[in-house]
Amino acid sequence: MTRLDEELGISLRSVDRAIENMVKFDKDIPRSSPLAQHILQLIHSGGKRVRPLMVIVGSRFGPSKDEKKTMRLAAAAEFIHAASLIHDDIIDDSPLRRGEPALHVKLGVHDALHVGNYMSARVVELISEYSAERERFAYDLSSLVTTQLCLGEYQQLSHLYDYDVHIEEYLEKSRNKTAQLMASCLKIGALAGGAEENTADLLYSFGEKLGIAFQIRDDILDFTQSAQKLGKPAGSDLRKGQVTLPVLFALEVDALASRIRSIGPDTPSEQVDAVVASIQQSDALRQSELVSEQYLDEARELICQLEAYPAHQDLNVLLNYFSGRDN
Ligand code: FPP
Ligand code: MG
Repeated sequence: MTRLDEELGISLRSVDRAIENMVKFDKDIPRSSPLAQHILQLIHSGGKRVRPLMVIVGSRFGPSKDEKKTMRLAAAAEFIHAASLIHDDIIDDSPLRRGEPALHVKLGVHDALHVGNYMSARVVELISEYSAERERFAYDLSSLVTTQLCLGEYQQLSHLYDYDVHIEEYLEKSRNKTAQLMASCLKIGALAGGAEENTADLLYSFGEKLGIAFQIRDDILDFTQSAQKLGKPAGSDLRKGQVTLPVLFALEVDALASRIRSIGPDTPSEQVDAVVASIQQSDALRQSELVSEQYLDEARELICQLEAYPAHQDLNVLLNYFSGRDN
């Protein structure tokens, strides 16, 4: 399978260097300090850098070629993402990230929280130099995006084991938690590249559609992938009270609804296993897939509106990547 960075003609090494530089040139913490080392280790522990790549793709829709600025914003996007995953793994009590022990397992929750907090706070300052140029969009990446991530996470937490949650609420949560960071990456890259406002807005909408499709896919994978591949048992989201799209569709089946509704925090694992198996055999996964495909179709239509730009081909590459089952 071709790698996304190669298909987009972007050097992942230069992206990684920009991310490392955020730590190496941090005036407040020496490179040898445990904090800097933990961040560097985290950054090196993997990740496909999808969000930085989206910033760079966005920048290709504008005339300006300020590579330093684009790379900084790209690195900032990965910083925000990585920080949010530290918090997410603590909240989800997830022992693994990218097949390795999560940071809170390696360092303990307190230290991991410090690393996550430091990264998400530092990023605001690191890109503030662009706001001095009145480029408000840089602020949007560092502040608005993080706020919305927290909001999405809060919306998820406040609806745990809530089997009456509405599909609109699920989509809103997914938009905040997943889609708007991807959307902002494309838009901010575009604005940094000097693209027109309307073009940047179309890119935002494209990223939003892609992000929601991605979250739905992720929620389906929780039921379809093997426990070995997931690093956790199938149906883990449901076990933890997350009422995702497949569960919402399964709740529409009378024979399944009462069994799903009986699941709470103390339900024995075998009982959840049986419900997960029934959801796997139901039509709920196919129905969820159809919704995901609808969002991808809408994203495809937005590419048509951007056809005048050669970089629209990169959006096709992103779309194909997100449509694949192995991302
Ligand atoms: C992955 O979700 C997590 C997110 C998309 C964002 C989580 C955001 C926060 C925890 C807010 C805190 C952020 C900061 C920067 C202070 P998932 O659990 O569905 O996916 P997974 O399977 O990758 O864990
Ligand atoms: Mg998680």
